[in-house]
Amino acid sequence: MTQKIRTAVFPVAGLGTRFLPATKAAPKEMLPVVDKPLIQYAVEEAYAAGIRHMVFVTGRNKRAIEDHFDTAYELENELAQSGKQALLDLVRSVQPDDMLCSYVRQPRALGLGHAVLCAEHLTGNSPFAVLLADDLMMGPPGGTPVLAQMAEQFYRLNNSVIAVQEVPQDQVRRYGIVAGTPAGERLMRIERMVEKPAPEVAPSRLAVAGRYILTPAVFEQIRQQPRGAGGEIQLTDGIAGLLKHEAAYAYTYAGKRYDCGSKEGFLEATVELALAHPEVGANFRAYLKSLKV
Ligand code: G1P
Repeated sequence: MTQKIRTAVFPVAGLGTRFLPATKAAPKEMLPVVDKPLIQYAVEEAYAAGIRHMVFVTGRNKRAIEDHFDTAYELENELAQSGKQALLDLVRSVQPDDMLCSYVRQPRALGLGHAVLCAEHLTGNSPFAVLLADDLMMGPPGGTPVLAQMAEQFYRLNNSVIAVQEVPQDQVRRYGIVAGTPAGERLMRIERMVEKPAPEVAPSRLAVAGRYILTPAVFEQIRQQPRGAGGEIQLTDGIAGLLKHEAAYAYTYAGKRYDCGSKEGFLEATVELALAHPEVGANFRAYLKSLKV
């Protein structure tokens, strides 16, 4: 029987050098898109997929993330006493009562595979999700969020499911790239997987987006594998190792990915989410139209 996906792992130990100086003292995952930090979008996506245990793989300088998902006692008291109920509800909604958060440190920056391995004792012998908060994922308007789409596939297939999207040839070296055989609508059974290949040797243009649902067998693979691209312990290599023992599927999600690890992607997300925002959207649209760009 398919086991339930109970845990989501958020690797958040990275330094965020592409956003310096903003990330000198503040975690990059706390950068807000309109009014919500990146990490909260990812946590909400996991929650919407039915996951209630959030595991953050953190590092030095990441304390703000723990505070964000904790009770803000003074603030909540202030808001309660001044009768600002709507704001109080908003602050409290960040951590629903049935959501549990765990934190584990990644003591050395050895790569994404290593970060995921740091969470092994918290995920147990069950399938789990991995969400990279840099990739802000929006499901289709009014439709199912991306991780929930993947969970539906997982519960049907009972094998690992990895989110992919097609990218231009000159961008393949930024991503994990997968190739395989078609296995139904939006699905491909993965046969090869390689981290950040040169365009000449890339097996396809299907790039891994930062959402994974993995079986626990991946931990053993990560533990055994040698260092990969960039001298790091890569999650992609762990999944490639998994293919020798079990099937894994690439799922072309419905929706849109914003690469908020880059300045351009972050700005695109900010503009598009602002346009869709119930409070500021209409005025912001009028403002953008007034700009002579
Ligand atoms: C990581 C993964 C890569 C994946 C990408 C998605 O790379 O290693 O396989 O395609 O996330 O954003 P990073 O962006 O950390 O270099």
